[in-house]
Amino acid sequence: MDDPRLHAWPDLPLCVVIGAGGMGLAVARRLGQHHRLLIADIDQARLDSVKADLGSTGYLVQTQKLDVTDETSVSDLASTVEQDGGFRSLAHVAGLSPSMADWQTIMAVNLRGPALVARHLLPHAGAGSAAVFISSLAGHMVANYEQVSETLSSPLSDDLIGQLESVLGEELNPTLSYQLSKKALNEMVRRLAPAWGEKRARIVSLSPGLISTPMGDLEFKNQPMKFDLLDATPLKRQGNMHEIADGVEFLLSEKASFITGTDLLVDGGIHAALIQRG
Ligand SMILES: NC(=O)c1ccc[n+]([C@@H]2O[C@H](COP(=O)([O-])OP(=O)(O)OC[C@H]3O[C@@H](n4cnc5c(N)ncnc54)[C@H](O)[C@@H]3O)[C@@H](O)[C@H]2O)c1
Repeated sequence: MDDPRLHAWPDLPLCVVIGAGGMGLAVARRLGQHHRLLIADIDQARLDSVKADLGSTGYLVQTQKLDVTDETSVSDLASTVEQDGGFRSLAHVAGLSPSMADWQTIMAVNLRGPALVARHLLPHAGAGSAAVFISSLAGHMVANYEQVSETLSSPLSDDLIGQLESVLGEELNPTLSYQLSKKALNEMVRRLAPAWGEKRARIVSLSPGLISTPMGDLEFKNQPMKFDLLDATPLKRQGNMHEIADGVEFLLSEKASFITGTDLLVDGGIHAALIQRG
């Protein structure tokens, strides 16, 4: 029915969720309890199903197709956010795991993508806005990062892939690219904190450990050594998507109002255990 009295909604702030996969949907369900949602993903069919699902269960949701590696596409998303009056919360959850693509594509989606999103959405942040970028435990486990740290500190360089190739050559593979992209993402968040702070906005990363999602299950299948990591996890289990949503919700809330430019590990203690093991 078109009667306007049936379309009055509470005045909620806008939350942008980028990535509508396993974790993205869990995060959207949680943040959608106190935000209007703008969900973006490269997969239109997934967006349609998420919109139907959330829309029919009381969420205020709009969707937009987005390729995070394409600057025009990210700029279009920023225009939607601008027309909406800016954002209060941003959760960047999209990413590719090592089994999902070649090393170049993994680097583009996991590093160039977040860098483009941070660049184009910052102008639409205001006092009290906050952004969380989902990184990974893998970013804390990379060796010899110093060799490429300078290159990776310019994630929007046109020649990023060529420069990495010239330093690392045949060492490069999807697993190393995943680790490097996530470490560089954590560094990006530290580097950008002052610029976000100028607007009294916050920017942080969150690094999940082993989490039970379709992506996590795929990696267990393709990398059996992950069972060693599971055995070494102090809490002796994988995390679940609700535990990641808990962390994201906290970091985006007023309870985290003095937390910026840092990374939160949500990993059941595996990083601490591995460091002690040496
Ligand atoms: N699942 C785990 O165990 C685990 C552990 C550590 C970190 N992570 C990180 O968590 C994040 C999400 O994981 P998930 O389990 O929800 O994965 P998922 O595969 O279920 O979801 C990822 C989403 O990203 C979207 N996407 C891919 N390329 C895109 C692009 N170019 N532009 C826009 N969207 C794109 C996909 O369509 C998909 O909907 C990733 O960044 C991943 O690296 C996951």
